[in-house]
Formats: sequence, structure tokens, C-alpha cells
Amino acid sequence: MALLSARRAALDALRKWQTQKQFADSVLSSVLSSEQLGASDRAFAQELFYGVLRNVILLDFWIGRLRSSRLNADLRDILRLGLYQLFLLNVPAHAAVYESVDLAQAKNRGLVNAILRSALRQRESLQAEASGQTLAVRTSHPEFLIDRWQNSFGAEATAELCAWNNEPPRVYARINHLKIDDEEFSRTYPDARPLPGRPSFSEFSARFPSDALASGHCYIQDPSTALACELLDPQPGERILDACAAPGGKTSLLAAMMQNRGTIEACDRDPKRLQILQENLSRLGVEISRTVCHDWRSNLSPSALKSAQLFDRILVDAPCTNTGVMRRRIDVRWRLQPDEFRRMQEQQLIILNAVVPLLRPQGVLVYSTCSLEPEENEHVVEQLVANASTSWRRDAVKVSLPFRDGLDGAYAARLTRTR
Ligand SMILES: C[S@@+](CC[C@H](N)C(=O)[O-])C[C@H]1O[C@@H](n2cnc3c(N)ncnc32)[C@H](O)[C@@H]1O
Repeated sequence: MALLSARRAALDALRKWQTQKQFADSVLSSVLSSEQLGASDRAFAQELFYGVLRNVILLDFWIGRLRSSRLNADLRDILRLGLYQLFLLNVPAHAAVYESVDLAQAKNRGLVNAILRSALRQRESLQAEASGQTLAVRTSHPEFLIDRWQNSFGAEATAELCAWNNEPPRVYARINHLKIDDEEFSRTYPDARPLPGRPSFSEFSARFPSDALASGHCYIQDPSTALACELLDPQPGERILDACAAPGGKTSLLAAMMQNRGTIEACDRDPKRLQILQENLSRLGVEISRTVCHDWRSNLSPSALKSAQLFDRILVDAPCTNTGVMRRRIDVRWRLQPDEFRRMQEQQLIILNAVVPLLRPQGVLVYSTCSLEPEENEHVVEQLVANASTSWRRDAVKVSLPFRDGLDGAYAARLTRTR
């Protein structure tokens, strides 16, 4: 009975995701908040919903082999959920079939039962057929993404990247040195496994570390997000602008690196996200930040930032297409369009050009994204540097590639303003 509710929640989420054009994580949290589910049912509903979104082309390939005539959206979703459980999650066949049949309207139950039982009978041939399909079908990615990644990274790395995107993400926590040191953290949270080569990061595998989060002892963050902060290298006492700051993962790391000495102006255009940033920073014990709601596309310079004193360092952790974090942002691959990379580049350059006048001479600018695309990374830096009104020295670039580094994708470039 409990699992049935989880399956119904997943089916509701799939319907809403297709009709309401919201992000998958918001759809799921709104569905789960309206259903009375226990922790394991919530986890199962999430597994089903995200699992279907990650594998939808492959599941539809199998559905196409099992049923040649048209299916309505509801029936298709029930079959996607059923086949995901049978072929990819290895749920016992009787449970997967019985519960899927039960999700259907009475008039469609015979059809769902027949299709899923036929799938079971043909399991081996269906799976063999799928393994002969293109990477786009096998790993359920749009062709245009596969083509561009094959051009950038080659065929082998692209296959690894697609497989990576389909894995459930790991839970990494950054230890918050404003509240606790690494040793005490390990003693207090024995579930946390230190990450080799990343002393301030731990992995939680057994359970979600709610107590460590509530106490502000850590922040859930992939280690790749630290690259930009390491390049910025803020010093205690300095004046820093974090231009795209919400929800505050990097702001809080910068404050820790500065030992809570100096000033960080944490700016973002989204008031709701700034509210979350404020809650995060206060829980994490950040005392040197001030939040500023500002859209850098506006021509007006934010009055809250007008001061005789220019910034020592500026971080622009820009909005991007998120192609480096697709295992966490499940539906990114279904929302992206081929022209999105250029559109994003325009936004990124607008933001950069707006913050440059606020940086002091010899000040440091770090530009970062969680995109893997050259249009949003190297090409943006090229265009910034090509603008003759300011001169720059290019100091360093750090890149994280999932298939090479085993972490989320990230790009960060550090420039020093020479004039
Ligand atoms: C990648 S996220 C920042 C993540 C954040 N640095 C962190 O580590 O938690 C990009 C942020 O830029 C903000 N943003 C996007 N366009 C903006 C603009 N034109 N002006 C100001 N903020 C913007 C978004 O609201 C979003 O919060």
C-alpha cells in the first residue's frame, strides 16, 4: 500500500512536470509536500520520477517496440514507470506489474497488464535491441548535446559523461570552518567519509546529514564549486563582491576563507533566492555579508554598492546552462535548446561588463560557471578581454570535468585588472 502511494506520487509528478513547465525538483517537492508519505516512500517516489526523466528516450524506445499504436500521455507515463521498475530498477516483476496496473483507469488495466507482461517475456531481446541503439537512445540524451560533446571531448568521454549524468548524485558536504574544524567534524559525524585530496569535504552515504546541516556545521556542495573560490583567494579584511550569490554556497565559503573579517556584498536579482541565501548564511555563522537585490541587466548601478571604495575582488558565478551538473539537475537536458548557449553567453557578458567598473585596478575578477560549453566559458572570457576599455592579465583557469575528475563540471577563470 505504501509503495502504491509512492508510485502515484511519481505519476502525479510526471504529469505536472509535462503540463506545468516547472523545474523537476520544484514539481517533486510540491507533490511530496501534498502527499502524506513516509521517508522511504518519498525516496522511492523520487527514484521513480527522476529515474523516468533520466531514461525517457530509452523507455519510449521499449514502449514503441511493445505497442505500435498511439498511447495517451497518462498510459505512456504508467508504462514508463512500469518499465523503469522492471528493466532498470529491478523491482520484483509481480510488484512492478501489479502496482502499475493499479495506477491505470479500470478500462486501461488490461492493456497495461498485457504490455508489461509482454515486456517481461521479451526482456532479453528488448534489452539487446536497446544496446544496439545510438548513445542518444541508450542514455536518453538529446542528439544535439551528444554531437557537441563528441566534438569537444571525443566519443569515449561523451559516453562516460552521458553515463555519469544518469547516475544518482552523491551527497557531498563542505565542512564549515566558521563553526567546526575537520577533526571535530569527523568525530561528531562518524557517517561522514573524508574525500581524498579534498580535506574540507566529506561524503555522506548512509543517510542525509540533517543534523550537521541544521547546526551549520556543513553545507551540501560539490567539491568542484570550491574551484572558483580558490582562484578568487579572498583575504581577511578585503572588500568582495559576489555578484550572483544566491543561494550562498560560494559566499559562505568565501566568508570562511576570510575568517569572517572584511566585507562581502552578496548580490542577486532573485528576492526569493536571496531570502534563502540569508537563511543559509545566518545558519552558517557568516557575519560579514550584506545582501543586495539587483539585476545587472539594469542600466542603473545599485545604490547599495555605490561607495568610494572599489572592490578588491569580484566573483561572477554566472547563470548558465548547467550542463556540468546534469546528474543533479535532472531535467536540464529536456529544457535546453541549441540556441541557449549563445543566449546565455549574452547574459553572462552583460553581467561581467556591469561589474567591471566596480573592480579596483589590480583587483581580481573570477568568472565561473557549471557549464561544460566553450560558448559560456572560454569564449566569454575571450570577449571580455577583447573589450578595449579595460586591460586584463589572465592569471589561471581551473576546470572540472565529470568524466576526468569524478566531480561535477565547473569552469573558473581568474583575471587581474591591470588598467
Ligand atoms: C549559478 S547561480 C549562483 C550560485 C551561487 N554562487 C552559489 O554558489 O550558491 C546564479 C545566480 O545568478 C542570479 N542571476 C541571474 N541573472 C542575474 C542578473 N542579471 N543579475 C543578478 N543576478 C542574476 C540567479 O538568480 C542565480 O541565483
